[in-house]
Amino acid sequence: MKAAVLGCTGYTGMILLRILGSHPDIKSIIPVSSSKAGKSVLSTDPGLGADLDKSGLAGKTALTRGCCVSLDQAVRFEPDVVFSALPHLESAKLCTPFFGKSVVIDLSADLRIRNPAAFQKSYGHDAPRPDLLPSVVYGLCELYREDIKGSDIIANPGCYPTATILPLAPLAQRSMLKGTIIINALSGISGAGKKAETMLLYGERTENTCAYSPGKSHRHTGEITQEIVKRDASLNVLFIPHLVPLKRGMAVTTTVHVQPGIDETAVEEALEETYRDAPFVHLLKSRLPETRDVWGSNRCDIAWYQEGDILMLFSVIDNLVKGASGQAVQNMNIRFGIEETRGLRVHGEL
Ligand SMILES: NC(=O)c1ccc[n+]([C@@H]2O[C@H](COP(=O)([O-])OP(=O)(O)OC[C@H]3O[C@@H](n4cnc5c(N)ncnc54)[C@H](OP(=O)(O)O)[C@@H]3O)[C@@H](O)[C@H]2O)c1
Repeated sequence: MKAAVLGCTGYTGMILLRILGSHPDIKSIIPVSSSKAGKSVLSTDPGLGADLDKSGLAGKTALTRGCCVSLDQAVRFEPDVVFSALPHLESAKLCTPFFGKSVVIDLSADLRIRNPAAFQKSYGHDAPRPDLLPSVVYGLCELYREDIKGSDIIANPGCYPTATILPLAPLAQRSMLKGTIIINALSGISGAGKKAETMLLYGERTENTCAYSPGKSHRHTGEITQEIVKRDASLNVLFIPHLVPLKRGMAVTTTVHVQPGIDETAVEEALEETYRDAPFVHLLKSRLPETRDVWGSNRCDIAWYQEGDILMLFSVIDNLVKGASGQAVQNMNIRFGIEETRGLRVHGEL
């Protein structure tokens, strides 16, 4: 299979090169870059290793002679699958030549919000391709597996939404929750991408933490709300993200009131039933999850604890893997009928 990676020099693009480089079903990788077309992949990303042959990537980038290519060149290679690791408001536009020809997995937010008015509210901009939305599947693998199998356009979820929705969706679906869901989420700095901004400098972020863009002012509130309210329209979402001095990793603590009669056992049953066959969702019950345990893995670890009618849910992911590139490859595996775990790590790295 031929896979193109658009925006291959950004963080999620770099992780995609690593995962696809060791994926047994990918025979060719087409690294696409607007800034580095014509340059060797190794010179743009030395972390891939000095000996590309050893990593298997030399063979896989033979089509492009080991170099990054432009978008126009990539179109001519006719990839089976295109991963777009581009910024929102650029991604859907630049994927245009591939729609209808390749399976497109968009890591940006461009196609995630089903209601164009809601997209405008979250992103302050018209939805880029409302005409495509009826054919788009929201690629939260564990919840939309059957739809993903039949779709050629997959909107890969955001990192905060992935970690937040996985523990909540089964409970909202069963009308077990009530009122306002309060989500306190901590993200590593790579969640903001590789761009140069003062607030992302080491000197600004080390030994420092803060909340930012609380409530509706954060773009992911709309995406989380979409997935919760479609399961239980009576619920409200209050999302409070924080930046923490980690390179990678995301920890979410969600607090919500439960309906009368709901206890930890009922929560466990709902989560077990939903994720029984999900290789990347691990239910830890009361052992609180840590970001370190999922570093480099495509796992989401979930725990819960109840006091009175207040339920606390705890979830962790690696924002660059289950929160982005790993889930994108999981989507590819599901779409092409490949074993869901192929090329992806279940275990975390030390
Ligand atoms: N970082 C995360 O944890 C995370 C998690 C979930 C989803 N996402 C989403 O995934 C996408 C990529 O994120 P990222 O963190 O990898 O971002 P990034 O590190 O900033 O990389 C984005 C890449 O896109 C290309 N690019 C940037 N501006 C462009 C423009 N105006 N026109 C065309 N290409 C442009 C550049 O690559 P080239 O120069 O090589 O083309 C750039 O390196 C974003 O939509 C982001 O919201 C990120």
